[in-house]
Amino acid sequence: MNEQIVILDFGSQYTQVIARRIRECSVYSTILRYDTPASEIAKLNPKGIILSGGPSSVYASDAPLPDKGIFKLDVPILGICYGVQLLAHYLGGRVEKGQKREYGKGSLTIADSGCALFAGLPKTLQVWNSHGDKLTRLPKDFVVVGTTDNSDYAAIEHPKRRIFGIQFHPEVVHTPRGREIVANFVHKICGCGRQWTMRNYIDQAVEEIRTQVGSERVILGLSGGVDSSVAAALLHRAIGDQLTCIFVNNGLLRAREAEVVQEVFGRNFKIRLQYEETSALFLKKLKGVTDPERKRKIIGKTFIDVFQAATRRAGKAKFLAQGTLYPDVIESVPIAGNPAAMIKSHHNVGGLPKNMKFALVEPLRCLFKDEVRQLGVELGLPKEIVQRQPFPGPGLAVRCLGEITPDKLRILREADSIVVEEMKSAELYYETWQTFAVLLPVRSVGVQGDERTYDFTIAIRAVESQDGMTADWVRLPYDVLERVSLRITNEVRGVNRVVLDLTSKPPGTIEWE
Ligand code: XMP
Repeated sequence: MNEQIVILDFGSQYTQVIARRIRECSVYSTILRYDTPASEIAKLNPKGIILSGGPSSVYASDAPLPDKGIFKLDVPILGICYGVQLLAHYLGGRVEKGQKREYGKGSLTIADSGCALFAGLPKTLQVWNSHGDKLTRLPKDFVVVGTTDNSDYAAIEHPKRRIFGIQFHPEVVHTPRGREIVANFVHKICGCGRQWTMRNYIDQAVEEIRTQVGSERVILGLSGGVDSSVAAALLHRAIGDQLTCIFVNNGLLRAREAEVVQEVFGRNFKIRLQYEETSALFLKKLKGVTDPERKRKIIGKTFIDVFQAATRRAGKAKFLAQGTLYPDVIESVPIAGNPAAMIKSHHNVGGLPKNMKFALVEPLRCLFKDEVRQLGVELGLPKEIVQRQPFPGPGLAVRCLGEITPDKLRILREADSIVVEEMKSAELYYETWQTFAVLLPVRSVGVQGDERTYDFTIAIRAVESQDGMTADWVRLPYDVLERVSLRITNEVRGVNRVVLDLTSKPPGTIEWE
């Protein structure tokens, strides 16, 4: 079993960030609900425990509290923010409402330079605070190791029991040296090595997949996106021809997308690829439909029908593989004010119908997205796939407004390839969250050569985002925009106008639908 750090989640919006910071130290981390019994935690044999922050106050009647048995497990503990209040609550300190909320940037003065948590760090550090309550009496046998203007107990330690508490958030980027604090905790205090790497994970995952699957066959729906692609490469490494990937061309893909998938997976990896050419079917079902919700429904239902029929043709398989990631698996803490509890809902949840009787293989279910990308690189997938931007399931249908016709799709594909090409050559493509073209159902008058035209409008959409939930439009350089616009109006027949979308999300969405 991997050496691991257990994070108990008290509903902080940063819990997953803590987990990622630990993994960036090449140490495995697991997020568990705040009330997981100490006996369960002990079974995992953690090298350390972190108590996350959270929106509550320890004195609230419904405050989330951990099993106090965790303090008897004799492993190092680090309480962050609300986690410190818990230390005080359980170990004999006192917490009171702060005179003023401490929120935002602060400066931490390290009071004990011998404290392992701050080893190698300067005497003062910029830190990020976000708390209302604060510690006013040290828990028993603790010492102060850091102070801020607003708090005499901003960082505390129980030297003998190796229990630490910090009021600020070391995991966020606004604590610039926070990564080193996390690294000190996991390496120097908990004694973890650097075992968790994607190179090591391949061996572990291959073994687990082989044990789970035995000599049975596995089917995977390959979309060409990062998750299903990496899952395909990993499963293929483990079970070779026992894996069949089904790729559905729904006629709503970007230019060359189907070719790239066939090239990479069919020809290079020599994966058994069942290619389903169903463009005509999808376009027939979408004929005359303009309502965005209806488009989505039709595409979703048709996909399920096509995929189900394809699995029957693929022959008898016991398992269905899915590229589920860790954030989909973590149980969010049902605490009022916990934004993570709301962030879950997404467009594609719902999945395949219940009557598809497969057992699931989910070889990415303990990985974060950045780890999946690294894993893809280790498995030899090209950058074009590993660094791919998110692309919606309904494909170009949510970027082609009004009725979808073959000619409008042709226009959109050509314009979109120009946007992507120019962004790549300006080295901006992989820096942005999503960059694409949208075809508006608006025709306007233009003049090209000596002729008046009456053609379509293309909108350029480029956004920055962390998770797709909120987004800001990217300030693209004028010369890039100029080249994109010139090329689209010159090279794409049917377009005489290019506009730029200057809307963030909210109030807009990323796709236009
Ligand atoms: P919106 O347009 O809602 O999109 O701001 C947020 C993110 O989700 C993607 N998106 C989808 N992804 N199936 C998906 O897998 C869908 O139906 C879908 N609709 C939107 C969108 O590209 C963006 O990254």
